[in-house]
Amino acid sequence: MIDSYGRNITYLRISVTDKCNLRCTYCMPEEGVDELKHSDLLTFEEIAEFTKCAVSMGITKVRLTGGEPLVRRGIVDLVRMISDIEGIEDLSMTTNAILLKQYAKPLREAGLQRLNISLDSVDRGNYARITRRDELPAVLEGIDEAIECGFDRIKLNCVVQKDRNEPDALGVAAYAKEKGLDVRFIRTMNLDTGEFWIVDGGTGGDCSICNRIRLSADGHVLPCLFSDIGFAVREYGNREAIEKAIGAKPEKGTLSRSHEFYNVGG
Ligand code: 5AD
Ligand code: SF4
Repeated sequence: MIDSYGRNITYLRISVTDKCNLRCTYCMPEEGVDELKHSDLLTFEEIAEFTKCAVSMGITKVRLTGGEPLVRRGIVDLVRMISDIEGIEDLSMTTNAILLKQYAKPLREAGLQRLNISLDSVDRGNYARITRRDELPAVLEGIDEAIECGFDRIKLNCVVQKDRNEPDALGVAAYAKEKGLDVRFIRTMNLDTGEFWIVDGGTGGDCSICNRIRLSADGHVLPCLFSDIGFAVREYGNREAIEKAIGAKPEKGTLSRSHEFYNVGG
């Protein structure tokens, strides 16, 4: 699928839930998060059908995100349903790893190829301050389990204030080196004001080569994280919602007042 600016759209990011078991300060408020009604959440069948349609139209790379994807009940079944779709060359997930000790092996067996793990600090106190939850020990156990399970590639996502020379970032870099993992530093973005940056070592944030569309947990196809445009799959049907989203994909992101990272998956 080629959009109006000549970009080939091959990458689909699917948010499977808006819920999360952390409350990272840059992502979610401590309290008073409006949760989606269960009936608004796409079912696994709907997500799988949508994905099939998207793959038939040219998507080859799929990532599951949240919120935190592992808090959605039955997530391993969804991974299996998606990995059964012919034509997906790359199937990955972004997770905070809290539940990975339990899920890494079943996920791998269900066909998940790669993991991106959010880790902003390896200092327990700082981790708890940033995420508002004292979960670092569970996260580190989860990462060890994932390494054991032989995923193709494990990448750490480390959100920084400004750059990789901050103490927490240096700590994560040293940890990554010790464990043989890749690490990417992501400067804190602000969707409300449209402050976003090119992601170091990744393709995110560079509008001119953006190859992605998103499916939100409540079933909207979103052409751009930094825009409020979206098309409901229950209203338009899968194919038309995708076509409309690609047609409406802006040349450059500006800002979004309706999206949050926890409901569109970053
Ligand atoms: N700025 C940058 N990245 C963010 N994420 C969530 N909120 C933000 C933000 N405001 C990203 C982090 C995290 C992933 C789940 O979403 O990279 O690892
Ligand atoms: Fe949860 Fe990820 Fe948001 Fe942190 S950044 S609160 S782990 S969705």
